[in-house]
Amino acid sequence: MTGNELASLTSELDKTRQEGTRATSPSDADGGPVDLRSLLRNCATSVAVVTTRDQTGKPWGVTIGSFGSLSLSPPLILWALRCDSRSHPVFQAARYFAVNVLSEGQEEISRRFASADLDRFGGIRVEDGSYGLPTIDGCVVNLECEQTSLFPGGDHTILVGLVRQARGSQRDPLIFCGGGYLKRSGPI
Ligand SMILES: Cc1cc2nc3c(=O)[nH]c(=O)nc-3n(C[C@H](O)[C@H](O)[C@H](O)COP(=O)(O)O)c2cc1C
Repeated sequence: MTGNELASLTSELDKTRQEGTRATSPSDADGGPVDLRSLLRNCATSVAVVTTRDQTGKPWGVTIGSFGSLSLSPPLILWALRCDSRSHPVFQAARYFAVNVLSEGQEEISRRFASADLDRFGGIRVEDGSYGLPTIDGCVVNLECEQTSLFPGGDHTILVGLVRQARGSQRDPLIFCGGGYLKRSGPI
């Protein structure tokens, strides 16, 4: 993406964000206030670290719970990144990113890529994938994606990626629910 294209995309995202986002609060059936954050705490998610490289080749990565599959044909996935996160400008400009869905036992990696410390890759086993992206060892899946679209999503940006390379394993996923990490206990 050229500098001009990026500047125009950034201003388009900002404009749509301002026009489309009203500060409204959800209410319950009786019109009472609802604390959405505490309700959503109980909705379990997988945990992934999304990685990329900036223009100097420096690796970046961030822990997310917003990963989701979007389409099989074409193969698309999505995730959301807070607009005020430090890695936002890097992912916004990135042509490629990798989604590393963490497995049981990788909660330390999740904590590290969610922490304020930006030296997040030290001591972590990482391989360069086909697109030069840092992919993390021992995950449930590693998806190397080409970024195809960005959409404004309130205080987040929604990133859509076309899956170019995929690698899977039989490992159990790390689960995040109720503010803590859980293991999959098995089938019901
Ligand atoms: C389990 C878990 C899920 C998270 N999900 C997201 C997410 O989907 N999007 C997001 O922007 N931040 C998410 N975060 C918070 C980021 O990891 C955290 O704010 C991080 O420090 C941002 O890094 P940066 O500011 O260096 O970009 C999550 C954190 C945890 C622990």
